[in-house]
Amino acid sequence: MNGSNVRIGELDLANPVLTASGCFGYGLEYDEFFDVATLGGICTKGLSLEPRLGNPPERICETPAGMLNAIGLANVGVENFCTVKLPTLRERGVTVVANIFASSVADFVKITERLEAEDGVHAIELNVSCPNVTVGGIEFGKDPKLASEVTRAVRQSTKRPVWVKMSPEAGDILAVGRACEEAGADALTAINTIRGMSIDINTRRLRLVALRIVWDLCGAVSIPVIAIGGIATWQHALEFIMAGASAVQVGTASFSDPCAAKHVMDGIAAFCSQNETTVADLIGAARSS
Ligand SMILES: Cc1cc2nc3c(=O)[nH]c(=O)nc-3n(C[C@H](O)[C@H](O)[C@H](O)COP(=O)(O)O)c2cc1C
Repeated sequence: MNGSNVRIGELDLANPVLTASGCFGYGLEYDEFFDVATLGGICTKGLSLEPRLGNPPERICETPAGMLNAIGLANVGVENFCTVKLPTLRERGVTVVANIFASSVADFVKITERLEAEDGVHAIELNVSCPNVTVGGIEFGKDPKLASEVTRAVRQSTKRPVWVKMSPEAGDILAVGRACEEAGADALTAINTIRGMSIDINTRRLRLVALRIVWDLCGAVSIPVIAIGGIATWQHALEFIMAGASAVQVGTASFSDPCAAKHVMDGIAAFCSQNETTVADLIGAARSS
């Protein structure tokens, strides 16, 4: 215990810094840069029932204000993840959050059931920013009823914590968050990629949008909120934590600095020790002052 540990529902994390889905491979790709087992956790690249090749290149584009991506959810599929990637993560003692996506509730449940057969998965994160093909292609995460339906179905299929990743495109994101909480989500993660950004090179719009959404969600639900969106430094991370987030995920920043998440972890620990405080005390600190 060094004052960095946090509790997300039933899950204890050594520190509040995770790496965001799609920005850190399956975890071990970054192991040569630093010991990824020291992270609060890694969120895997989104896993589907079958492997997917995704979109043809070019799939990412660097802009002065950030990175645009159109990966098309390329991934090895849940079976390959369980048999090829997970054993090493498990041996190394990495805290693994399996990010999953599907185009029907039934497939979300099938992926969850496959993961349930394995040790070494600590939580499941639902990427609900994808269309539900059984109800005319409406995104799960845009609609409180669809989001709650998929959350409830997954909740019933696993003993593990279920985190639901909010889509910034939901008309009423607070209603979606509350619906997921009622359906049994253990935490909300916020936010997924913003589509069709208009980029202003002088303002980091993504981070500000994410910070506002995290602030609002923390006021709307009682379950923990995990923040993602524009976090590149420990100072950014502390802003989100002080806004009420119980942990943070580092996304795109790992592309320009593979050690970004480590710097965020170390910076938070140093801040806590210099200020004789703990992460737990900083969570929501800006809300009460
Ligand atoms: C290249 C790339 C791939 C991503 N893949 C996924 C994914 O598979 N599942 C998911 O839930 N989010 C995915 N995301 C979204 C990130 O996890 C994160 O929510 C988003 O990038 C905002 O955080 P950032 O500003 O720190 O990058 C991806 C993002 C990027 C840039």
